[in-house]
Amino acid sequence: MDRLVIQGPNRLEGEVRISGAKNAALPILMATLLSEEPSRLGNIPHLRDVTTTLQLLASMGTRIVVDEKLNIELDNSDIHTREAPYELVKTMRASILVMGPLLARFGEARVSLPGGCAIGSRPVDVHIDGMKKMGADIRVERGYIIARAERLRGARIPMHVVTVTGTENLMMAAVLAEGTTVLENAACEPEVQDLAHFLNSMGAKISGIGTSTLVIEGVERLSGAVHDIIPDRIEAGTYLAAAAVTGSRVTATHVEPAHMTAVLEKFRQAGAELEIERNRITLDMRDRPLKPVDIVTAPYPLFPTDMQAQFLVMNALAKGRAVVEETLFENRFMHVSELLRMGADITVQGNKAITNGVERLIGAPVMATDLRASASLILAGLAAEGETVVNRVYHIDRGYECIEEKFHKLGADIVRLTDSQ
Ligand code: UD1
Repeated sequence: MDRLVIQGPNRLEGEVRISGAKNAALPILMATLLSEEPSRLGNIPHLRDVTTTLQLLASMGTRIVVDEKLNIELDNSDIHTREAPYELVKTMRASILVMGPLLARFGEARVSLPGGCAIGSRPVDVHIDGMKKMGADIRVERGYIIARAERLRGARIPMHVVTVTGTENLMMAAVLAEGTTVLENAACEPEVQDLAHFLNSMGAKISGIGTSTLVIEGVERLSGAVHDIIPDRIEAGTYLAAAAVTGSRVTATHVEPAHMTAVLEKFRQAGAELEIERNRITLDMRDRPLKPVDIVTAPYPLFPTDMQAQFLVMNALAKGRAVVEETLFENRFMHVSELLRMGADITVQGNKAITNGVERLIGAPVMATDLRASASLILAGLAAEGETVVNRVYHIDRGYECIEEKFHKLGADIVRLTDSQ
């Protein structure tokens, strides 16, 4: 398995072009299933999760053409299976997002349960309960969720938790339902909004976009559409955090600053100077000491859980004490034990990570555990003295396009080694 080797400490400088948002690209790729007419998507990031999604769609019969500008055209006129198999779902939980479109258009979906979870408990209960409310018959058989419905019916669906993919799945199910669906306590993330805009350009009737109540008037059929994916606010935040931990000045280009308000505010509190233009953000941390910042993760527009690990590294190097509280996911401090091995002073108490900033981190071999945790280890390695080897970069490739190339262009000493090296 590949690993990244970083010689630190690094000073970064320059511009980094931010890619399209993974978490918008995945549901929008799946949403093309809702029409037999082709759709064309631009600004799709080149990532392992996107490849997995394209494999999943191709396995069902989607014809996929990539043009010279890297736009992807998807033709779903000949879908012959309605199944997301275990082999693909186990590598990417977002595969569950085919369920809404398949059920809505074909009246049938078979989706492997994401590993390690039982129906009715945590991860997909909102998706399932919502589709049941729309009249679907849903059962679990041999590890698969099997959903059927003649035609879904609009319903009022109060969701007990704010869930991004849950909102997206139900929105995709509702666009072709008979009658009106009201999704209450909906997620407002920019990626959910991007999906809603794409669906509306296919002819859907969704209102309340960007609020916690989505009203979806079902239509008989949808057409194809042309759409560009929004910029990845988490990737942008990650590069800006890299500038912060290395005392550098970096400009993220092709970004949407309006999607990053809570994160930008925390960068300011951490002592960074920010220059914000229309599609560019420059973070300057040269000769400015990092200040500790308390963080509580929460659904949009508050501070995103996907930026928590990166800010923990900033706090690990900031003079003083800070508390990062994770309210969305259990077990999202797996990077802490690796950061301790690099000399950080962090204590985990329940869902809180308490840091006492240290002067410096020391390079070490570390293991990437999940997507954002992996990114945080790279940041730590860039700031640390000596050599850091980030093992199992598989996770990083799921969500960051060409990460070592982008850091390399900013001046970092980072190389990828494959198993044979
Ligand atoms: C999405 C993002 C992920 C991000 C997360 C939170 C994608 C592909 N992934 O994940 O990067 O970290 O939002 O912003 O967009 N829950 C339930 N029942 C459900 C569904 C969720 O209880 O049926 C709970 C989860 O356990 C969690 C919370 O809701 O505690 C939020 O999870 P959710 O928003 O669903 O995360 P994802 O959509 O999987």
